Amino acid sequence: MKAVVLVGGEGTRLRPLTYDLPKPMVPICGKPFMQYQLELMKDHGIDEVIFSLGYKSSAFEEYFGDGAGFGMKIHYIVEDSPLGTAGAIKNVEHLLDDSSFLVFNGDILSRMNLTEIMNFHKEKKSACTIVLTPVDDPTMYGVVELDSNSGIVNFTEKPKKEEVRSNLINAGLYILEPGILKRMEPARKYSIEREIFPAMLADKEPMFGYSYSGYWMDIGTPFKYLSSNHDTLTGKMPVDLNHREGIVYGKNTDISTNAVLTAPLWIGDNVIIKSGAKIEGPAVIDRGCIIGEKTKISGALLWEKTKTGNGCILDSCLIGRDCNLGDNVKIGKLAVIGSCNIIEKDRIIEAETCI
Ligand code: GTP
Repeated sequence: MKAVVLVGGEGTRLRPLTYDLPKPMVPICGKPFMQYQLELMKDHGIDEVIFSLGYKSSAFEEYFGDGAGFGMKIHYIVEDSPLGTAGAIKNVEHLLDDSSFLVFNGDILSRMNLTEIMNFHKEKKSACTIVLTPVDDPTMYGVVELDSNSGIVNFTEKPKKEEVRSNLINAGLYILEPGILKRMEPARKYSIEREIFPAMLADKEPMFGYSYSGYWMDIGTPFKYLSSNHDTLTGKMPVDLNHREGIVYGKNTDISTNAVLTAPLWIGDNVIIKSGAKIEGPAVIDRGCIIGEKTKISGALLWEKTKTGNGCILDSCLIGRDCNLGDNVKIGKLAVIGSCNIIEKDRIIEAETCI
C-alpha cells in the first residue's frame, strides 16, 4: 500500500522553531520526527511514500533523498500554494493507482499497528477508515461518533460540553479508497476533515473508525513537542533508544567528572559538559552543544550546536540550533528560543516567551 504524508503546513504554533525547520523535520531525541513515522511505515511493509509538500519543502529531500537509504521509495510533490488537507491528496493523484492508500498527517507521533488498521479497513469493506484516539476533553477537537459496528455515524466540530457524545477524535491517519479523489477538482483548496468526510457520510458511503488507545501525540505546540521528547526518553513512547541506565551518550562526548547527570537524558555526539553543570532529565542536549560550568538544565530541549555560558539556569525550555547564551542567563518553562539567537549575559527570559 502507498502512503501520502501531508507535510505542507507552516507549523505556526511551533514558531520560532519552525522558521528554521518545517514541523515534521524538528528533532525528537536527535532524529527528525518524520524519520519515526517512516520507520513505523517500514515496520508494516509500506515502502512507497509520497510527500505532499509546501513550506520549506527542500528540507525533506535534503535529508531523505530518494528514500533508498531508508529502504523506501520517496516521491516529493510541492504545492505552489497550500491546497488544504484534501486538495493536497488530489494533487498527488497521478502517483496513486486503483488500490487503497494511507494518508498521514505529518505531525502525529505514535506506534499505531498499521497492519491491524489495514486489515480492519479490508474486513469492513470501508471506503474511508479514520483512526480515532480518545481524549479527556474533546471540546477542542473534531469528534467522531461510532455505532456498535465501528461505523461512523456523526462528526461534530468542537462540540460544547453538553453536546459531547463521544471522546474519540481524529488521530490523523486515514485509509482511503481511490474513489474519494472523484469528489475533488484539481488545484482547489479542500479540507478533508471539514468538507470531504462529512460529504461522504451524507452520501452514506461506508466509513469506519478504528479506535486506537496506544501512545499518540500531536507535536504541534511547544508543550506537546517538548512532551514528545520527554515521552521518547521515558519510554512512554515505546522506541528502543539503546541507552545506558537511562542516558543515551553520543560519540566523542566530553563530560566533566564534576558534572551531575540525572536520567533520562539524550546527549548527542561531540557534546561538551563542563565542571559543576547539572543536567536533570528528561532532557535532550543535541549534538555539538556546549554546556558551561555550573549551568543547571532541567527538562529542557537544546537543538544542535547551542552553547551556554557559565551559571545559566534552563528550565523546561526549547532552544533552537546554534544559539549562544551568555553567562548567568535564565530561561523559564516553555520559553521558545529560535535558532541562531544570541542571548546576552544575565538576561532573564520569562516562561512561555518566544524569541
Ligand atoms: P499550524 O500552523 O501550527 O496549525 O500547523 P500546520 O498547518 O503545519 O499543521 P496542521 O495541524 O494544521 O495540519 C495537519 C497536517 O497537515 C500537518 O502535517 C501539515 O503539514 C499538513 N497540512 C496542513 N495544510 C496543508 C496543505 O495545505 N498542504 C499540505 N500538503 N499539507 C498540509
